[in-house]
Amino acid sequence: MAPIANQPVGVFDSGVGGLTVLHELLVSLPGEDYLYLGDTARFPYGERSQAELEAFALQIADYLLSAGAKLLVIACNAASSAALGAVESMIRRTMRSGAQIDVIGVVGPATQLAVAGSRSGRIGLLATPATVASQAYERAVLGADPHVHLESVACPDLAPIIQGGFPFDERVVETVRSYCVPLRSAEVDTVILGCTHYPLVAPMLQRSLGRGVALVTSGAGVARSVERALASRGLLNPQSGEGAYRFMCTADVESFRAVGTRFLQMPLGEVAHVDLSARVAA
Ligand code: DGL
Repeated sequence: MAPIANQPVGVFDSGVGGLTVLHELLVSLPGEDYLYLGDTARFPYGERSQAELEAFALQIADYLLSAGAKLLVIACNAASSAALGAVESMIRRTMRSGAQIDVIGVVGPATQLAVAGSRSGRIGLLATPATVASQAYERAVLGADPHVHLESVACPDLAPIIQGGFPFDERVVETVRSYCVPLRSAEVDTVILGCTHYPLVAPMLQRSLGRGVALVTSGAGVARSVERALASRGLLNPQSGEGAYRFMCTADVESFRAVGTRFLQMPLGEVAHVDLSARVAA
């Protein structure tokens, strides 16, 4: 069946990081309803193989589509890098009567903003090992402008430290600083925060990189892509006022709520537990 305008937008991530993307969606497209799934039981995705990430993303996409999503946002760099194409193919295979559901990842929107904004053509990337290993950002930058150089830095412990460490202490500052060293040496003028956790340490990054360096996050670009996709298919929700948003996670709901409020910067309300273990994607 073709999706209709009053269905929700489905958003997913390995945990709470994608809430920084949902935040932008809630601000930019307040009239939409949202369904957010954080796969906290399998966090962190940043250490997973490409095959695992693809399997997880297919499983979650299938779940959100069954729950009535009219569009999917993969609000995780590791999952977007490994599985965007696979999720799109799964939807093409399983949707009937030519109906189409758009899948928006975070790599394309962040790359477009970074390439458009860089004067020197020297861009940095901070991301998890899985995202760096996939080379998805290299391909996206090459596609946008072959004359732009991308300096990638894998940050194995940054997302777990951000998730576990609040209030932030000196260890977080030191970790952030150490990942900025190669970017300062490479003299980049723009840095892509290639993990949805990193906006939480943006002030530390800015201080370490210097105020002349532009930090690019994916949220605002993702919101624009979602708006264009919905508008072009006549799927923007016509309701007046603010839509509803609901949360699901695959591990403990209380810790999701406690940590998630910090990432969303809004109250979370009810969080439901879902078990994906028995689910096999189409
Ligand atoms: N949210 C994930 C991303 O954007 C990073 C956290 C993780 O390793 O799961 O890649």
